[in-house]
Amino acid sequence: MPRNIVVTSALPYANGPIHIGHLVEYLQTDIWIRFQKMCGNQCLYFCADDTHGTPIMISARAVGISPEQLIEQMHKEHVADFDRFYVEFDNYYTTHSPENRRFSELIFNRLNEAGSIVKRNVEQTYCDNCRMSLPDRFVRGTCPRCNAEHQYGDSCEVCSTTYRPAELINPYCATCGATPVLKTSEHYFFKLADFEKPLRDLIAGGYTQKSVANKLDEWFEAGLKDWDISRDGPYFGFKIPGEQDKFFYVWLDAPIGYMASAKNYCDENKLDFDRVWNSSEYELYHFIGKDITYFHALFWPAMLMGAGFKIANRLFVHGFLTVDGEKMSKSRGTFINARTYLKYLNPEYLRYYYASKLTDTIDDIDLSTEDFINKTNADLVGRFANLASRSGPMLVKRLDAQLGQLDDKGAELIGKLTAAKGDIIANYENLKFAAVVRTVTALADEANRYVEQNQPWVTVRTDLEKTRATLTAVINAVRILTIYLKPILPKYAQKVEKFLNIDKLQLADVDRTLQNHKINKFERLFERIDKEQVSAMIEESKEAQSAGPPGPVKAEAELAEPFKPECSIEDFEKIDLRIAKVVKAEPVEGADKLLRLDLDVGPPPGRQKTVLAAIAQAYKPEELTDKTVVYFANLKPRQMRFGLSEGMILAVGTGGKDIFMLSADAGAKPGQKVL
Ligand code: MSP
Ligand code: ZN
Repeated sequence: MPRNIVVTSALPYANGPIHIGHLVEYLQTDIWIRFQKMCGNQCLYFCADDTHGTPIMISARAVGISPEQLIEQMHKEHVADFDRFYVEFDNYYTTHSPENRRFSELIFNRLNEAGSIVKRNVEQTYCDNCRMSLPDRFVRGTCPRCNAEHQYGDSCEVCSTTYRPAELINPYCATCGATPVLKTSEHYFFKLADFEKPLRDLIAGGYTQKSVANKLDEWFEAGLKDWDISRDGPYFGFKIPGEQDKFFYVWLDAPIGYMASAKNYCDENKLDFDRVWNSSEYELYHFIGKDITYFHALFWPAMLMGAGFKIANRLFVHGFLTVDGEKMSKSRGTFINARTYLKYLNPEYLRYYYASKLTDTIDDIDLSTEDFINKTNADLVGRFANLASRSGPMLVKRLDAQLGQLDDKGAELIGKLTAAKGDIIANYENLKFAAVVRTVTALADEANRYVEQNQPWVTVRTDLEKTRATLTAVINAVRILTIYLKPILPKYAQKVEKFLNIDKLQLADVDRTLQNHKINKFERLFERIDKEQVSAMIEESKEAQSAGPPGPVKAEAELAEPFKPECSIEDFEKIDLRIAKVVKAEPVEGADKLLRLDLDVGPPPGRQKTVLAAIAQAYKPEELTDKTVVYFANLKPRQMRFGLSEGMILAVGTGGKDIFMLSADAGAKPGQKVL
């Protein structure tokens, strides 16, 4: 009996582009689903953009568009990116939908009626200037424990202490720099602790992997706390029923977005949502990254239990992507967007590489750039494509593109390949894709050895029928390996199907052989990767950060540069701004952006200071001699990599060529005070 399966991946935030970290999840899920479909199971894949919350509201404000416009634009981009990586959703919806509003209200009302929701006053940080409550990450200040400055409102990156925003010393709004105030507001809380017993049972019943269950045990031991599910306006989200200016917290309606996506699909395809989503006729699986385990293993099932909906059969949790052993990083150029990747490389290389690393554990997955290049060239080109290119062209050119029958040796080879089917199925089913890849590469080696032993390029001169038998075996090996790889390499499989002149391959086809059959002209399957392509991709990912891509992404980058805390007029008066005259300007070796300026800073005569200024892209040294500039005279000298800098030239602009030095009129004398 074919199984009916519903699958979800976590909903990507709508305020940023899809990157190769996200792709670990969507590719893992997509491979699993393609495998299920190849087994003849019915499988539906639902996802959506996660559109609500403060960051999206602020990103939209920053670029001067409405949040609705922003999420629409991002939706288009996300859909296009996934499509180009062959991630095949049945519905890629949005959480900002009527279905999601209805389900959010329904679930909230049911929980409320069941007494699982309480109201309580909370003190929250509010920015009068931005006229909004600030989420923890939008308040910054000095850590109350270690005094590190500019820390987030929830935890200190220096000493790892966690705290409430109200505990920060000198707090400030990360958006505008103003000092926030504390306001009391009534919030709604979901009583998570009421569900401890059924949640413990769920986890004990194998809802998720063992290592995840261990982490959950720690959380149970620490005690489940009430969860704040409301936010005060202005907020981009759904209004809470019966409230004027309170909204559901984004994490309340986000997982409900899975249901909304399914509902929208069922309505459009005349399916009964209650059966698809809420009956035992369909199995249900969620795929997520380990960072959002708390939401999916505790809050989400508890909400469903409280509201009388079905819980998923399993939650599959994966680890995080690292690149060359480190966290993805914008400065190292390893924070690679899906789009940037696609400019340089074939999406199937990444699908294959991730598959070769993915297990059923929550260990992080490392993309080693060197290993990625080697594996692509050795496996995709050297093992799989090579096998096809050693048989196809010769068959077409010399043997009328006509397959014959397997001889004994050939049947033996094919027997070995088909025998692996059970293992491969079990490994796909259990998310052990790395094991699948290991088996398939070993089988490809076997097939390539068969080619070497039988030397068709030699026998073709003397014995055409023997050669036909050999190549028939090789083509059947290509066919079986392609079946095994098809969930990972769907496009490659399509090319092979065309070349072999056959219908879409299913898993059951492993047990058939292709004999006495005419094939089509052979077309190249994979190209080698060259190191340069990868370096160029990394180089571009570095630039993308400093230049800032257009649209909302840029808004996010701008937000990454937080405002400094408020400073009083007394603070400002400490700054001694004076006139100086440039005596000499010269480039700094090894630093493209810097110029070394010798400044005449006024009496006593001959007194000079040297300043290193990052203005080399805007000014040529010779333009600067004798120029009168404004400089920050009492800045403490700083030892920089290229020498000591004893002050700072004042300039405005956004950087690069757009820097304009502040200069004074010709009458101003070095040393004169400015203001
Ligand atoms: N919007 C939430 C999920 C809501 S689900 C109801 C979210 N979005 S996200 O865009 O930050 O992440 C989407 C998924 O991608 C998550 O499962 C997350 O774990 C995964 N990944 C994001 N970055 C990742 C890596 N660097 N590596 C592996 N997976 C990563 O969380
Ligand atoms: Zn503010």
